[in-house]
Amino acid sequence: MTRVFSGIKPTGHLTLGNYLGAMRQWGAVDQHQADSLFCIVDLHGMTVDHDPARLRRLTRQAATLLLAAGLDPELCTVFVQSHVDEHTRLSYLMECVATDGEMRRMIQYKEKVASEGARGRSVRLSLLTYPALMAADILAYGADEVPVGDDQAQHVELTRDLAVRFNQRYGHTFVVPKATVPKVAARVMNLQDPTSKMGKSDDSGAGIVYLLDEPDVIRKKIVRAVTDSGREVVYVREEQPGVANLLEILAACTGGNPESLGIVHDSYGALKQATAEAVLDMLSPVQARHKELCADPGYVEGVLRHGAEKARAIARPIVDTAYRAIGLLPPGAFSGAAAAEPALNAVR
Ligand code: TYM
Repeated sequence: MTRVFSGIKPTGHLTLGNYLGAMRQWGAVDQHQADSLFCIVDLHGMTVDHDPARLRRLTRQAATLLLAAGLDPELCTVFVQSHVDEHTRLSYLMECVATDGEMRRMIQYKEKVASEGARGRSVRLSLLTYPALMAADILAYGADEVPVGDDQAQHVELTRDLAVRFNQRYGHTFVVPKATVPKVAARVMNLQDPTSKMGKSDDSGAGIVYLLDEPDVIRKKIVRAVTDSGREVVYVREEQPGVANLLEILAACTGGNPESLGIVHDSYGALKQATAEAVLDMLSPVQARHKELCADPGYVEGVLRHGAEKARAIARPIVDTAYRAIGLLPPGAFSGAAAAEPALNAVR
């Protein structure tokens, strides 16, 4: 059976981008068709400035929202990254396989260094090594597929390279995974600046639809979305990024396709109204379920505890195999290993 792994970082409130680019696919397809694991990657949440209490709050909120969005613990495994030590154990091995240059080429790293640099600030070392931890997240589970939005494809590509390199150097250990990206809305753009991604940790909230925004706030944000100077509703991303973004959101919510939805709506106003209604229809059951789950934190806690146990049972033997393959002496194997190795004076 195909194994799927994906993760979400609790650095801010989850957005429509997270939902359409990743979460929805996890609940609607992956958990039914594959042996799936979904992780709230809290360690990744510390690669940028963070407040401990907020990180804990956002971790709880992300877990609750994943369940509200339809992840069913009977069908898949939901857990928190820091509850399973195998991620950090394997991450160091990935750092020993990756190069400094590879890490510095990652777009997200370069963008963050540029924006922090402009404010005279430096970034955390963990931001540079982040892709090694992300590779560990994926490879520790032998995942075949990694369902992500478009912005994570480069990190999954690097994960593939590291898996292949490790296997070549130290013997076959890891499954080489591939990214799966949704056909529409793989990169939902900011409603106020449709040339940049709708990101959960962006400064201004006006262009970002948060999954837990009140319905009238969602409606306002969509109706006030920046559109383009033309009048016609056509799907041409390069020329009309604002309209194209709304068409993609509408298509993703209704199951249509952006080109033909452009023909159906004869004004920007009509397109915005239709998109707002479609987003509200899609999110209202998620919000209702979230409210119910918030009243039952013991249930969510139990799901995460059981999820971590299941995750650990899968990751432990894979990471142990990688430790042996790379040359680390297993505990308690001193004399057995010595017998199998050449005489000490032959070791260079
Ligand atoms: P994160 O937390 O930024 O985003 C979680 C998922 O949501 C997708 N996404 C989007 N998709 C479409 N449009 C958008 N505007 C948008 N914003 C976010 C992301 O592509 C992602 O799939 N590095 C990862 C977390 C991670 C991970 C992993 C993912 C850590 N280890 C292992 C997969 C496998 C991240 O920062 O995602």
